[in-house]
Amino acid sequence: MSLARFLDLADFAAAEVRDLLALAERLQRHPQPQALAGRILGLVFLNPSLRTLASFQAGMARLGGASFVITPGQGTWALESRLGVRMDGSAAEHIREGLPVLASYCDALGIRAFAEGKDLAADLAESNFAAMAALVDKPLINLESAMNHPCQALADWKTLDDLAVPDRARFVLSWVPHPRALPLAVPAATVHMAAMRGHEVVVLRPEGFALPPAVMDKARAAARANGGSVTETDDRAAALRGATVIYAKEWGSTAHYGDAARDAELRTALLDWQVREQTFSSCAPGCHLMHCLPVRRNVAVADEVLDGPRSVVLREAHNRLVVQMAVLHRLLS
Ligand code: CP
Repeated sequence: MSLARFLDLADFAAAEVRDLLALAERLQRHPQPQALAGRILGLVFLNPSLRTLASFQAGMARLGGASFVITPGQGTWALESRLGVRMDGSAAEHIREGLPVLASYCDALGIRAFAEGKDLAADLAESNFAAMAALVDKPLINLESAMNHPCQALADWKTLDDLAVPDRARFVLSWVPHPRALPLAVPAATVHMAAMRGHEVVVLRPEGFALPPAVMDKARAAARANGGSVTETDDRAAALRGATVIYAKEWGSTAHYGDAARDAELRTALLDWQVREQTFSSCAPGCHLMHCLPVRRNVAVADEVLDGPRSVVLREAHNRLVVQMAVLHRLLS
């Protein structure tokens, strides 16, 4: 399979994802330090990052290529993305010029642009990312958009493979506390990835934090195609019984999307949704704790879990490098 864009795991069949992961394994066993010699990756980060930024630069270097990073407004011009506006504010440059210019300097471009978090319909439509993608005539990588994080999902798929988690295992995506509303990109990508793997997926979240129907419908379609299931509940005891994986993730209230005050009101009563060792009492023996990072210790997940044998968060983060090298190889070699 050749790649032109890596924007959504849903663009691929499960067999194609496995094929990509097989390439990642091959590159791990047999490094190709010159595979991308002379090739350049551009990385545009409209939002902060640690793993995505560092792992893409490292991966490109390990394959013999080079990369540049642009963080608009921090050493480079701030970028305006709204159409038809009079640009008399802080942004000196519009994406309509900035992105094609950057694309002309490189062989592939990655863009991170989080949800605006104001209008759920607009974020679900990925209108901001789509507007940027339309300006790029090179292979494009989604480094996290409003509703997707395919690189994280691919790394998490590999982590589940590494741990030999069986297809039909119970996979619980559990909402966990955070001081403020976070985007839906990782939960949306995760529920879809687990459904594609054929797991018995349970989305465990409090009232007011249901994942949008469009996200659940997409995941259920993937489950149907791959022999799994996807359900959603606020019953922690029922959800966790027999779980093989708890994937902890923070996200904002969908019932009060864009309303920080109402969201904050809801989450103040939910601090006990933190994952602690006792959370695993009815799970399957050896149940794993996954989280995409960054994680707020003793808010989302307790030290005792993150520092214990259940946690595979560092493996997930390392796998970002491993799988993204395969994506870069497919896009650019
Ligand atoms: N998980 C993840 O994407 O990490 P960063 O935000 O640090 O890139």
